Amino acid sequence: MKIVLLGPPGAGKGTQAEAIIKRFGIVHISTGDIFRKNIKENTPLGLKVKEYTQKGLLVPDEVTVSMVAQRLEEDDCKAGYMLDGFPRTINQAVELDKILNKAGEKLDCALVITADYAKLTERIVGRRICKGCAATYHVTFNPPQKQDVCDKCGSELYQRDDDKEATVVKRLEEYDEKTAPLIDYYEKQGIVKKVDGQQSISAVEKDIADILSAL
Ligand code: AP5
Ligand code: MG
Ligand code: ZN
Repeated sequence: MKIVLLGPPGAGKGTQAEAIIKRFGIVHISTGDIFRKNIKENTPLGLKVKEYTQKGLLVPDEVTVSMVAQRLEEDDCKAGYMLDGFPRTINQAVELDKILNKAGEKLDCALVITADYAKLTERIVGRRICKGCAATYHVTFNPPQKQDVCDKCGSELYQRDDDKEATVVKRLEEYDEKTAPLIDYYEKQGIVKKVDGQQSISAVEKDIADILSAL
């Protein structure tokens, strides 16, 4: 099963991917998580992308596409994957289609998590991420059992660099301008499914599980 997850910043892509991948035996590939890991480890890729992610701007396509192309060649992707945060421009979607075509494969679904923009800032500003396993929490909507400590691995939680209100505005603009047109792109392929991301985390998860089970 090969899924693309679409939706504005804070819609719940990472939260839902974490919850759903085990059930379907597929891997979660988040380009944002890969960039953050590289920034933390000061790798050449991390140094290259930091200035973009910190400002809420998209990283240039050539950097992102070659990184994803490499990741998709790894063995664990054979069982299927959920792409979270990629593609994010029409050009990235075209490049992904080329990679899939070459391998005689295709996407099963472009899953769009919809959400009212007015709610997103509150979600993003209250988000906390685990330093160890990248699990996502929210200070109000999905708090860990012990404040600032990950339930899953016991590591400390932190706030993302780009989760400041001013940067969120830029990220939403980038989404509107460059990523939202992908919904139409995948509509033309007949693979779009929409989920109301304003429900509770568990209700969204149930809707997604139902959609994927019916594919
Ligand atoms: P990325 O990491 O992909 O960030 P994003 O798209 O802005 O999305 P988020 O991770 O902010 O939101 P999400 O939908 O995953 O929400 P979450 O589940 O965490 O990208 C970061 C940056 O990397 C980009 O700005 C760009 O610079 C670069 N980048 C990445 N990919 C790229 C690409 N392909 N091309 C170019 N550049 C790229 O949930 C948010 C919060 O809400 C959490 O606290 C959660 O607990 C809470 N929550 C979730 N669901 C619910 C619910 N139903 N009710 C209440 N609270 C909820
Ligand atoms: Mg995310
Ligand atoms: Zn953890």
